[in-house]
Amino acid sequence: METSALPKLHKTAKDFMPINGTDYLELYVGNSKQAAHFYKTAFGFQSMAYAGLETGLKDRESYVVVQDKIRLVLTSPLKSGTDIGRHIDQHGDGVKVVALWVDDATYAYDTAMERGAKSYMEPQIEEDETGKIVRSGIYTYGETVHIFVERKEYNGIFMPGFKKWETPDYNPEPTGLKYVDHMVGNVDWNKMNYWVEFYENVMGFVNILSFDDDDISTEYTALMSKVMSNGNGRIKFPINEPAEGKKKSQVEEYLDFYEGEGVQHIAVATDDIISTVRQLKSRGVEFLRVPDTYYDAVTDRVGKIDEDIAPLKELGILVDRDDEGYLLQIFTRPVEPRPTMFFEIIQRKGAQSFGKGNFKALFEAIEREQEVRGTLH
Ligand code: FE2
Repeated sequence: METSALPKLHKTAKDFMPINGTDYLELYVGNSKQAAHFYKTAFGFQSMAYAGLETGLKDRESYVVVQDKIRLVLTSPLKSGTDIGRHIDQHGDGVKVVALWVDDATYAYDTAMERGAKSYMEPQIEEDETGKIVRSGIYTYGETVHIFVERKEYNGIFMPGFKKWETPDYNPEPTGLKYVDHMVGNVDWNKMNYWVEFYENVMGFVNILSFDDDDISTEYTALMSKVMSNGNGRIKFPINEPAEGKKKSQVEEYLDFYEGEGVQHIAVATDDIISTVRQLKSRGVEFLRVPDTYYDAVTDRVGKIDEDIAPLKELGILVDRDDEGYLLQIFTRPVEPRPTMFFEIIQRKGAQSFGKGNFKALFEAIEREQEVRGTLH
């Protein structure tokens, strides 16, 4: 997006837009049926809802899978020439919609529009025999959108237009994933502060943490990041932009392969990361690996933790500490052919930060993968 095309933002007070949490994430994917199978088999999501030819849709099909509070909608086109197909052609599989659960989707939309948002969808009421939902939507970075979902008068399975997706013969066990902890966007060179101000001015978020290129750099690559949070802290969006380094950073690699700005990773929380990661690995989820020497110094760096180091080392789980406690985290490799979106699994034990102490080891691990891909130059 060119600077000249960016809307003017209206600056005022914080936290004017109450958000209850993440409602769903919609991914546009090449094959929704197989993607749904992957998220069930590998990640332990459960079959929830379906929309497609059988429900009267002509141009697309969506499968909804759920694990605790996390809902993924996996959507593919049913014919050529659709906007969904064009999106997939340009970006590959990726997150199109970050839907936010609000009490009043009309208020949220009107407020955002007054403050300079670009409209994606005017408020619309969707109804079936179990009630009604109101949805509205605005654009954020790249082609990504936020849809506000008001569902206080809805008692159905997911949304009007969807039917229950029952799979009596195949329902793999959940893996302990509970909710979206944070979701990271990669934006263009020199655009981080623009999108920081967008979340401040249009949506009432605050900047709770900042990392400059000295915090997030290795010998070769660098990036900058600012973390935006809504008022109640249930929505946290770190925003990354590339920074100059000797070689091409992972954010640049993402922007090249996604062909634009978009969602880099979805961090999902668990209460037992050792058990969760062990299951995910056994089901074929691929994780980034730091060198075993990481674990030689880990106790000196983070102090005493409840977990034994041996299983963390075996599984490649990282640890970091801040003033409030510690956290355990691990990152998957990209989940589609392009080196773009991936998942983070995180368990917080008091810490409210994002693993700054792991950035260097982690980015060096990513650089080793970039080297193999031939994109580190
Ligand atoms: Fe993260």
